[in-house]
Amino acid sequence: MRQLNPAAPAPLLCTLAVLLRTALSVDHVPVLLWSTQRSQWNPDATLHEGHIVSAQELTVLLQPIFTQNSRNLILFLQDTLSVDDFTYLSESYGNKNPFQNVQEMLQSSPSSLVLPAVDCEAIRYLLSFLQTSGDWKLTHTTNLNFSQLELDTSKPNLLVVQLQPLVSGLNEISIQEAIAENDKIIGRLTMDLQERGIHFSVIYTAARPSRISRRTDVVWELRRQLMATEDEDSSSYAPLNMTTGNETCILFYASNFSLTANGSVLIDLTNATFVTQNVDISSSECSDVNTTLSLKYTNPVNGISSLEIR
Ligand SMILES: *[C@@H]1O[C@H](CO)[C@@H](O)[C@H](O)[C@H]1NC(C)=O
Ligand SMILES: *[C@@H]1O[C@H](CO)[C@@H](O)[C@H](O)[C@H]1NC(C)=O
Ligand SMILES: *[C@@H]1O[C@H](CO)[C@@H](O)[C@H](O)[C@H]1NC(C)=O
Ligand SMILES: *[C@@H]1O[C@H](CO)[C@@H](O)[C@H](O)[C@H]1NC(C)=O
Ligand SMILES: *[C@@H]1O[C@H](CO)[C@@H](O)[C@H](O)[C@H]1NC(C)=O
Ligand SMILES: *[C@@H]1O[C@H](CO)[C@@H](O)[C@H](O)[C@H]1NC(C)=O
Ligand SMILES: *[C@@H]1O[C@H](CO)[C@@H](O)[C@H](O)[C@H]1NC(C)=O
Repeated sequence: MRQLNPAAPAPLLCTLAVLLRTALSVDHVPVLLWSTQRSQWNPDATLHEGHIVSAQELTVLLQPIFTQNSRNLILFLQDTLSVDDFTYLSESYGNKNPFQNVQEMLQSSPSSLVLPAVDCEAIRYLLSFLQTSGDWKLTHTTNLNFSQLELDTSKPNLLVVQLQPLVSGLNEISIQEAIAENDKIIGRLTMDLQERGIHFSVIYTAARPSRISRRTDVVWELRRQLMATEDEDSSSYAPLNMTTGNETCILFYASNFSLTANGSVLIDLTNATFVTQNVDISSSECSDVNTTLSLKYTNPVNGISSLEIR
């Protein structure tokens, strides 16, 4: 299936702090994309378990949408959505899958992409980013009765559809029904456009997560489920994980982990951290108030007998 362009491996040192922070505490939402046209979402080497897509990364991932010929884009915005909704709601109601249309379209579209975790901050600026990325005719609608929808397809259209809110405090059944209703709206509109021979791309996301979702392993199961393919990551190492009890609280991943001391001494910790795991993480801390990753190395290079990075 279609995925992302591999990006150049980021220099690790400058992103270390960011990675640790994002992997831990950033609110994130899923972003689902599909298009009636083939585009360039290729297998991606840089999306790792636990990775939360930043605003800047998202702008890169969205580029194929702007470069294809028919530039109609529909943005379906829900108030809340989390990856857990897909796994939990789809499983707990048996054959009544509330995301039926969305999942079918992800699978049948010529190109699609599932980003299980995107920084909410990126969603906040998504609309203004989209607006500046094309000479769109913007239509904003909360009226979900599309029988009257007129699109002038001689120009690129950006159609923003505010889906009905999933009122918090609803019980699971009503949330499921509200999601199923939104799913029908998405299905109706996109089917209608397709029948009229109009090409378009779709972004389906939400402003906020609907539940606290810290379990990044669930996130990645979802990506596999939705995309129905599993791409083993060949270009990098399994993440170093800090687990207390059954809960993984830190996942640390990199394709290269090295630093320079005293201006010239290169200390390459990649192997020690990810291959031989010749690293002591026992001084790390995972609690509600303090999450600290401590990496202790013995004799990382000649002349340095011990090194702790935290
Ligand atoms: C939707 O539009 C159709 C045609 O204009 C109209 O008959 C119908 O009552 C509308 N439905 C709602 C819910 O507004
Ligand atoms: C964490 O590490 C343990 C032991 O090394 C491994 O079995 C487990 O699969 C790892 N979990 C993740 C999410 O990488
Ligand atoms: C960890 O998982 C095992 C098996 O799933 C379970 O029996 C145990 O209660 C769990 N421990 C904690 C602290 O959640
Ligand atoms: C990591 O990057 C440094 C500096 O670019 C390089 O010298 C080193 O060989 C790399 N290590 C690995 C394991 O790729
Ligand atoms: C650090 O670099 C300076 C100048 O390059 C050198 O004189 C000094 O010996 C180095 N110190 C260590 C501990 O390697
Ligand atoms: C890391 O390990 C690989 C294989 O074990 C080895 O070929 C490579 O030279 C090592 N790299 C460094 C920088 O130690
Ligand atoms: C967090 O935990 C680390 C490791 O145990 C400790 O060194 C540090 O002082 C703690 N920080 C705070 C703010 O409690």
